[in-house]
Amino acid sequence: MAEQSGAKTVPDKPFLTDVKTLRERARRHIENGAITEGYSADRDTVVKLLNEALATEIICVLRYKRHFFMATGINAESVAAEFLQHANEEQGHADLIAQRIVQLGGEPNFSPEGLATRSHAEYVEGDTLIDMIREDLVAERIAIDSYREMITYVANDDPTTRRMLEGILAMEEEHADDLVSLLETIGT
Ligand SMILES: [Fe+2]
Ligand SMILES: [Fe+2]
Repeated sequence: MAEQSGAKTVPDKPFLTDVKTLRERARRHIENGAITEGYSADRDTVVKLLNEALATEIICVLRYKRHFFMATGINAESVAAEFLQHANEEQGHADLIAQRIVQLGGEPNFSPEGLATRSHAEYVEGDTLIDMIREDLVAERIAIDSYREMITYVANDDPTTRRMLEGILAMEEEHADDLVSLLETIGT
């Protein structure tokens, strides 16, 4: 940043709350744990979005598991290994999301009732190995778009949730990439 004739181009702006206020605020509502008065996101909406993401991840675990056990044919072994790895990674995402929901004072919804409706991605079994890979790719693409939208929504109001979502998004993009490679390898 250029300085003009010794003058500061950026004016001093007090963006930090003073220590006394910070300490006083922290003592109020300590039952809210990690959620302080400075939390500026709409907590109910964030929890609702995270519960939809949780449902999506659970559906993805179930679909990848089904595909893992049902993969047959000449290319089945390497493809099944990929399905299993994705299933385990989606389970990891589900766990991270559930943990964050609790930190935000919400309750993770693991109810099988309405699970497929809450989920953004679909549970499609697929008849052939190619069908399975295609359906998984569609689901990953849905997840990628919905995580991207959630990240935009959360923006700077909840950096911890945003960072988590960004990490998950990066992995969904890797998953989609893996599936495209599989389609190319075994022929479409
Ligand atoms: Fe995931
Ligand atoms: Fe994924």
